[in-house]
Amino acid sequence: MRHSADGRRADERRGADERLFQQTAHSPSYFELARRGGEGSEQVLDFCIPCNPYFPTPRMFEQLAGRLESILKFYPSDADTIAGQLARVLRLNPATIAMSNGSTELITWMDHLWVTESIAVPVPTFGRWTDQPLETGKRVDMLPLLESDAFELDVDRYVAFIRSRGSRAAVLCNPNNPDGGYLPSREVLRFVDELSDLDLVVIDESFIDFVDAEHAPSVAAEAALRPNVVVLKSLGKNFGLHGIRFGYLVANPGLAARMRRALPKWNLNALAEAVVFMLDEHLAEYRESLRLLRRDRFAMGVELARMPELSVFSSQANFLLVKLADGIDGSELRDHLLSRHGILVRECGNKLGMSNQFLRLVVRPAQDVAGLVEGIRDFLAYRRPSPEPRDPASLILRSISPDTGDRLREIPRPRPELRPTRRPN
Ligand SMILES: Cc1ncc(COP(=O)(O)O)c(C=O)c1O
Repeated sequence: MRHSADGRRADERRGADERLFQQTAHSPSYFELARRGGEGSEQVLDFCIPCNPYFPTPRMFEQLAGRLESILKFYPSDADTIAGQLARVLRLNPATIAMSNGSTELITWMDHLWVTESIAVPVPTFGRWTDQPLETGKRVDMLPLLESDAFELDVDRYVAFIRSRGSRAAVLCNPNNPDGGYLPSREVLRFVDELSDLDLVVIDESFIDFVDAEHAPSVAAEAALRPNVVVLKSLGKNFGLHGIRFGYLVANPGLAARMRRALPKWNLNALAEAVVFMLDEHLAEYRESLRLLRRDRFAMGVELARMPELSVFSSQANFLLVKLADGIDGSELRDHLLSRHGILVRECGNKLGMSNQFLRLVVRPAQDVAGLVEGIRDFLAYRRPSPEPRDPASLILRSISPDTGDRLREIPRPRPELRPTRRPN
């Protein structure tokens, strides 16, 4: 059990933690948790914020740290210079991109510029896609993704929904957050082509680099050839640098230029510039980080699926959605993991279209997953009465593999030997 420097047990801080989790539709920030938690809480094992744990490499962090003084002292270059370098590294046409201070900045500006009256959004998904247009008085047409379909998006059902509501704009997150569901690129293209009359169609590819279901999953190059399609990318998730706040969009040169004109001057900071100019030399390490992450995703899915109290949804993102068996309260589990094991998880009760029976767990290396599994087992042993374990055969996982396309596959789940671990005293 972890203790803070003043000798208080971590679970004695629980009141503050619970209030933090109820503040917004998002997770509390790491820094806020650390400030409230006192000394020692910086050691929290984070399964909450979907960040690449293998990139940047320790060597890159050393290089950045060595340059910190000049990075912080001087103005960065303008956004065109930084975006131009990003385009060179990622082999994109600079005329088709606009770079921002986090992709959330682009969601905000797209809403201001191009969402005129209504927007269709499948839920659950990233909360800003519903909250931003609601905050500016737009009508948000929410299509519920069904748990019975493993939250899979059916293109025909979504298009029919958009037509029936008369939505003027539409969003599709691929892979989706929080379930990691993935739509093959040919289906995404079919979707955008069905909707060529809309004001705007956004494909949010913030997690696309983690996909291994097909070789070239992004539709960014195709978006640039269409009049109303924008592909959105966050760089914080795949480059493991949420704190920097950088992202970009890809669209036809006319749309991209309108966005660049709308964005504030010097919206990108010098840390973002430093990282973008380092990337070229580190692309091999970046590709390796993605390989390791996909390996961990598979291993973590298998490990979690051994627990009969968890249903694990297969994912192409860097997180796994799990559902807790009936009778298990996700908020209690979240609080237990944080206070007794120093593990932070995302309980999804405050996400539209979810309940607190769902947790989103970020993919982490095997030794961290072992700690998580131990914490969950500890919680299950601690709470009474324990639930009837669900029949593993009833737990169908959605899986998309390169050769099977979008067909459903049942992943065999070994019946685990569930040993109660120590009870907290
Ligand atoms: C699907 C999706 N899009 C966009 C974002 C925003 O990312 P950023 O940190 O680049 O603002 C998130 C954040 O979680 C997300 O899940």
